[in-house]
Amino acid sequence: MKYSIPIFALIALVFTACKSENPPGHKALQQGYNEAHRPQFHFTPKANWMNDPNGLFYKDGNYHMFFQYYPDSTVWGPMHWGHAISQDLVRWKEQPIALYPDSLGYIFSGSAVVDPLNTSGFGNDSIPPVVAIFTYHDPIALEAGKKDFQSQGLAFSLDGGETWTKYSGNPVLRNNTPNQDFRDPKVIWHPDSQQWVMALAVYDRVQFYGSENLKEWKFLSEFGIPGDTRLWECPDLFPIRVAESREEKWVLLVSMQQQGPTGGTGTSYFVGDFDGVQYQADAAQQQWLDKGADNYAFVTFDHVPLPRHQRLGIGWMSNRQYAQQVPTSPWRSAMTVPRLLELQHKDGRYVLQANPVPAMESLRDTGVDIPSVITGKIDVSNQVNPQLGELDLQIDLRATTATTFGVTLGNSAGESVTLTVDITDKTLAIDRTQSGPKGFSEVFFDGPHTTFLELDGAILDLRLLLDRASLELFSGNGALNITEVFFPQSPYTSLQLWAREGQLVLKSGKGF
Ligand code: FRU
Repeated sequence: MKYSIPIFALIALVFTACKSENPPGHKALQQGYNEAHRPQFHFTPKANWMNDPNGLFYKDGNYHMFFQYYPDSTVWGPMHWGHAISQDLVRWKEQPIALYPDSLGYIFSGSAVVDPLNTSGFGNDSIPPVVAIFTYHDPIALEAGKKDFQSQGLAFSLDGGETWTKYSGNPVLRNNTPNQDFRDPKVIWHPDSQQWVMALAVYDRVQFYGSENLKEWKFLSEFGIPGDTRLWECPDLFPIRVAESREEKWVLLVSMQQQGPTGGTGTSYFVGDFDGVQYQADAAQQQWLDKGADNYAFVTFDHVPLPRHQRLGIGWMSNRQYAQQVPTSPWRSAMTVPRLLELQHKDGRYVLQANPVPAMESLRDTGVDIPSVITGKIDVSNQVNPQLGELDLQIDLRATTATTFGVTLGNSAGESVTLTVDITDKTLAIDRTQSGPKGFSEVFFDGPHTTFLELDGAILDLRLLLDRASLELFSGNGALNITEVFFPQSPYTSLQLWAREGQLVLKSGKGF
């Protein structure tokens, strides 16, 4: 018997099929990987273990990102520098491994600089070299009980970052301190003193070294918090102009291995001054760059043609507390979306604001309006794809009468992630305690993660980026960042906006 399907039924069928595969939201990128939890607009390596971003620079139309990489397993191991490039900071293309371990050790975190004047002598007049400065971690020396198993080495590239040659004079900076942690060099050109300046994490502080040629380094000074015993990692020192002013400040980013904003690792910063020798900042004014659990080792790009009040950076979207246990295969870890940093001076305090780079907006489909008054709860999964989308809300705080309101992601397995704004307590909380199957880690499901929320203005802006296994929240023009990952048993298919004890009123709301 021959089946005949009426044409309208066929259209409806095709429409439903398309809809379920391609609901509104962000356009997926053609990375080509589609395993469970695989981010679609965040960089992930095709396979195996990744941690910190390293050696970030821009040259000849390409953004280069290197990263801590172990190509033989999905857990941490002998470190290499993996490599990816992007023309727009949205689409990344993984490249062959750039640096392999050698007899001096594994290749730990570090930075890269474009050396236009060929101060290093690695290039020539027509070919300015790119120089990578990284930590050698010698596992044999460590095993032998030596203290100086970390040193700094160089590699250079004469083809714009594609291939690398290690410097024959490595290491260029040995550890003469009493501390065994001596790593993660971040180098910047300091025009006023006509030298390269390296910020280096040395256990519980940052040391600064200076060099004219990147090969010989002399100690300049150090900066720390008196009495601090936490492990400092991945420093980054850079100048930035205060927004709408000509004032210049020096930001020192430092990642803290313990006691981060949610308990584990986190990226912090200081705002101060640097005169080519000494870094001065109020050590009591250490702030978190991101209040979520999953933004570590955030560092910035060298040589990007940006206005002087902006700086571009990216972080590792995980936390040491569980990074090696998260249920993904055949890769582990993603990077955050690249973020543009700006410095605000407000109420006597300097605050870094971080927002997704504008290019991320190229992923948006036409926006769909969200109803402007919400009582009880509404599902907006027709306006925002819960797996791959963006929610942009301008909340009218004067008209809002609800005491708490929020956003909940959910699936058919009853798992959820909830974001709650409490107007009375002035807090914002992310609750991933029921976000997916437990067991891979206990500490992952601790929570909720609660942070203070400024509610002084008439409007509260909340921008939420969703990419299958992560949320990134930007509020207060980027003054508040929250980045968290999660791993539901089946994809989240519902996205609810809800209000309790009153109404949530939006000045505007869009889903993408
Ligand atoms: C930070 C870090 C760095 C180190 C690297 C090793 O996550 O511990 O201090 O260089 O990872 O992979």
